Amino acid sequence: MTKKKKICELSIEDQCLVRQALEARQNAQPPYSNFYVGAAVLGSDGGVSKGCNVERANYTSTSHAEQVAIDSLIASNGPVGICAIAIVGAPRDKEPNAAVWPCGHCRGIIWENCLGNKNVRILTVVSKDEVEISTIGELYPNAFGPEDLGIKIGA
Ligand code: THU
Ligand code: ZN
Repeated sequence: MTKKKKICELSIEDQCLVRQALEARQNAQPPYSNFYVGAAVLGSDGGVSKGCNVERANYTSTSHAEQVAIDSLIASNGPVGICAIAIVGAPRDKEPNAAVWPCGHCRGIIWENCLGNKNVRILTVVSKDEVEISTIGELYPNAFGPEDLGIKIGA
C-alpha cells in the first residue's frame, strides 16, 4: 500500500535520495514536453547516482530519469543491485505538486536491478515536504525480468 510521509521524517539515507532527485531535476532537458523529471537511485553497495530526462528531436530516443540514474550507477559501480529510487516530476517553473510514478518502461528497468527483491522502495515527491512511498512489488506485479531467463544480474 502506498504511504504518505513527511520528508523530514524519512531516514537520512532517503532524505538524501530525495534531495538528489530534486537536484537532478534541475538539469533535465525536456524542450518538447516541458516536463522536468529527476531521479536518484541507492545501490546495494551504498552508491548513489542521479538522473534526469533527456528529450531528443525524434522523440523515441528520449531517456527517462530513472533509466539515466540506474545506468549511471552501473557505469560507476558495475551491475549492482538497488535498494531504493526517488523520483520527482513537474513542469518547468512549477513546484512538484503531484506524485509522479515510474512509467511502465521504467518499472521494467528498475526491476532488472532489484535482484528479485520486491521490497525495493520507490519514493515520489508530492509536495515540498511530502513523499509517497511504494515498492517495486506493488508497482510491477507479475513482473518479467532476468529471473524468467534464469539470469542473476551481477553474478
Ligand atoms: N519521464 C521520465 O523521465 N520518467 C518516467 O517514468 C515518466 C516520463 C519523462 C519522459 C519525457 O521526457 C517526459 O517525462 C514526459 O513524458
Ligand atoms: Zn519512464
